[in-house]
Amino acid sequence: MTNVGILAVSHYVPEKILTNKDLEKKLDTSDEWIRSRTGIEERRVASDDETTASIGTVAASRVLEKANCPADQVDLIIVATMTPDSVLPAVSCRVQAGIGAKNAGAFDVNIACSGFAYALALGCSYVTSGMANKVLVIGADVMTRVMDWSDRGTCVLFGDGAGAVLLGEVAEGYGLLAQELGSDGRGAEHLVIPGGAGAKPMGSKHLTDKDFTLQMNGREVFRFAVQVMGNSAVAAAKKAGITSEDIDLFIPHQANSRIIESAAKRLGVPMEKVFVNVHNYGNTSCASIPLALSEAVEAGRVKEGDKVVLVGFGGGLAWGALVFNWGGVSEIRKKADAA
Ligand SMILES: CC(C)(COP(=O)(O)OP(=O)(O)OC[C@H]1O[C@@H](n2cnc3c(N)ncnc32)[C@H](O)[C@@H]1OP(=O)(O)O)[C@@H](O)C(=O)NCCC(=O)NCCS
Repeated sequence: MTNVGILAVSHYVPEKILTNKDLEKKLDTSDEWIRSRTGIEERRVASDDETTASIGTVAASRVLEKANCPADQVDLIIVATMTPDSVLPAVSCRVQAGIGAKNAGAFDVNIACSGFAYALALGCSYVTSGMANKVLVIGADVMTRVMDWSDRGTCVLFGDGAGAVLLGEVAEGYGLLAQELGSDGRGAEHLVIPGGAGAKPMGSKHLTDKDFTLQMNGREVFRFAVQVMGNSAVAAAKKAGITSEDIDLFIPHQANSRIIESAAKRLGVPMEKVFVNVHNYGNTSCASIPLALSEAVEAGRVKEGDKVVLVGFGGGLAWGALVFNWGGVSEIRKKADAA
């Protein structure tokens, strides 16, 4: 089996910033309420000509540039998203065309906010099994397009963004150590966009505009999240054979700072070892983990040999956690250059 790891990570966020103060002007809410319940201060909003595919393409181009990898060397593109440009075709095909990855297969993964964790686990399995050498995994969402802007309990939480990683072979002992995926469909109705597909197609009786927006039972999702975030991270760490003291960086899904703090506590990791950027972006769904990882790397928070735990959760309900031993890239690159 090939050792698989993250060769490079990058991100893109739209320029437009929507602050809590801006929301105060549109909604019966306050900066104080949003900050104290969620930690969020502002979020990004895609411009009219931006879509999940376009922002995902920018993140993908940036990661290939960082990895110094020509687009024609990519074997597979997996896009995790819950806000595709359209039901058909897959966003990944638009990204494939956008970056000119002429030798790549492409498909999407839709498992809401845990999408990136699932896509990453899947992408890794293609490399470890030898079915692909280089896999591009992208998490991208334009959540502001599926908000009901009159639902103050939900619309203040989300924002737009994209993140991407390039997966490939790394030196022995590095890369993916363990992964843990889970789901509980009994909670399916707690996070749902009901309209526009098979159950409530266009033209259905009683279909309203709200049916095309995200409907959330915030309290139930909160209850689920605090439990599952910590538990899945603990389970993945155990599979990887590491303890909480061994963890150098914890990158949880950036949904809410209170959920993040409780997950860190459950995992036994102090907040200095947790990367948090939810205050700047809100919940960017599938982009949240790669966006946080990318900023963590840019900030010099990840070193060779660090044990990094990533964990996502969201609609489904579903969750996923992965543990990496960071690095091992240069050794393989030297070997490839010499060959
Ligand atoms: C949404 C969330 C922040 C709400 O926090 P909460 O403490 O549970 O708040 P409640 O829903 O109990 O609402 C408390 C009050 O605040 C009000 N409220 C809700 N949103 C508000 C807002 N944006 N501004 C001001 N007041 C608001 C409610 O109407 C309610 O008022 P009431 O008591 O008069 O009815 C919290 O439940 C949460 O973070 N859930 C998880 C959501 C999530 O992460 N989803 C994505 C998963 S991937």
